[in-house]
Amino acid sequence: MESIMSKADVLLGLQWGDEGKGKIVDVLTPDYDIIARFQGGPNAGHTLEFNGIKHVLHTIPSGIFHPTAINIVGNGVVIDPVIFKKEIDALKKLGVDVNNKLIISKRAHLILPTHRLIDAASEAAKGKNKIGSTLKGIGPTYMDKTGRNGLRIGDIETNEFKDKYNTLVEKHKQLLSFYNFEYNLAELEPAWFEAIEELKQLQFVETEHYLNTAMKAGKRVLAEGAQGSLLDIDFGSYPFVTSSNTICAGACNGLGIAPNRIGSVIGIFKAYCTRVGSGPFPTELDNEVGEKIRQIGREFGSTTGRARRTGWLDLPALKYAVMINGVTELMMMKADVLSDFDEIEVCTHYNYNGKVIDYLPFNIDPAYLSPVTTTLKGWHVDLTAIHSKDKLPEALMAYIEFIEKQVETPISIVSVGPDRKQTIRMK
Ligand code: GDP
Ligand code: IMO
Ligand code: MG
Repeated sequence: MESIMSKADVLLGLQWGDEGKGKIVDVLTPDYDIIARFQGGPNAGHTLEFNGIKHVLHTIPSGIFHPTAINIVGNGVVIDPVIFKKEIDALKKLGVDVNNKLIISKRAHLILPTHRLIDAASEAAKGKNKIGSTLKGIGPTYMDKTGRNGLRIGDIETNEFKDKYNTLVEKHKQLLSFYNFEYNLAELEPAWFEAIEELKQLQFVETEHYLNTAMKAGKRVLAEGAQGSLLDIDFGSYPFVTSSNTICAGACNGLGIAPNRIGSVIGIFKAYCTRVGSGPFPTELDNEVGEKIRQIGREFGSTTGRARRTGWLDLPALKYAVMINGVTELMMMKADVLSDFDEIEVCTHYNYNGKVIDYLPFNIDPAYLSPVTTTLKGWHVDLTAIHSKDKLPEALMAYIEFIEKQVETPISIVSVGPDRKQTIRMK
């Protein structure tokens, strides 16, 4: 029997994160009843701009400013209570009814103060080979999840919570003793436990039931990804990746939505590339052109403030992300940033071990792989006040059509500025 059950759309980043997911989720939220984050944690920084407000969210979904949409923090997310409390307090100050619009999965894992310490100790020990982690404790928390040692939101409501916490912290102390790393845990714990008390005012829910029941009733769900496909633990530039599955399949794991209940897969990419942290970046422009993109695009981290590395658009990498995710529509961000260039380069192939290839291989280290680019004409038009497709300059339309043809996927939105309103629908 054909059910009327609705499907969940998934929105995710196709590059190394910071593609502009937060902005687009905010733009699309009026079309949905529920926005649900499925992985990552406070390593993410999703920026929203509207009515003169600029707001950065880390763990809370980007639909939170909508008056009625329910926002879910799914089981695949890792939560630092201290950062979460700060996010909630900031939203309450802006008049957001957080207590009624935000739901947390009982199965979501908690980031302990010691997870952050282990993250810092591990990065320090790696020296020049460090991942460039955001130091939010993401890796160690997911390690405890898969190692079956983790603490979850649902544990907070049990009598054994404090005992479980102490047992895990003892393990962490032993681990920390292997590193030459000084720390003061007693300074960090009071704020953590205070934040846990505040979290108790929110609704802890079996969100897999909540979501599937809502979908049975025809509610529209948008799953919001964090990071990007090239930071995925399986398909990213390992080991310079994050510790979760950032790809579409992560939405199934991270929310309890079955694969056959996924609808559209919306892939977000910048008109160029950025990367923050270490690891290979084939089209990187470590020169004045890269610096120009960084300055015009204000490419500094939303979470850490670090300068983002910049480079031209990488089509083999984009095609790879489209393939792994089953992307059904693309959205191109920050087209306005390229308005000041006479010529724009795009990577179409790689030189890889003496051969020219058009796909992303196992090893993208610069010792094995270099980009082959083609040059397209710039448009030299300020795009930031344009509101409709028919006003877009010819050279930009040619850039869009070139990408669509190469990637074999339509671009449904072109973003021309950080504000909600600076969004052009192409359909
Ligand atoms: P996310 O992590 O994918 O949500 O992206 P971030 O918020 O970390 O980074 C994207 C940055 O670009 C933010 O500062 C946004 O305000 C900004 N932004 C988003 N779309 C556009 C755009 O089309 N043009 C410009 N100039 N900025 C944009
Ligand atoms: P959003 O959701 C960009 C990067 C870090 C580092 C690597 C591992 O805003 O797009 P981690 O803290 O996860 O152990 O860091 O991943 N990274 C991001 N880069 N945007 C993000 O999130 C990121 N989250 C993690 O810089 O290279
Ligand atoms: Mg970001």
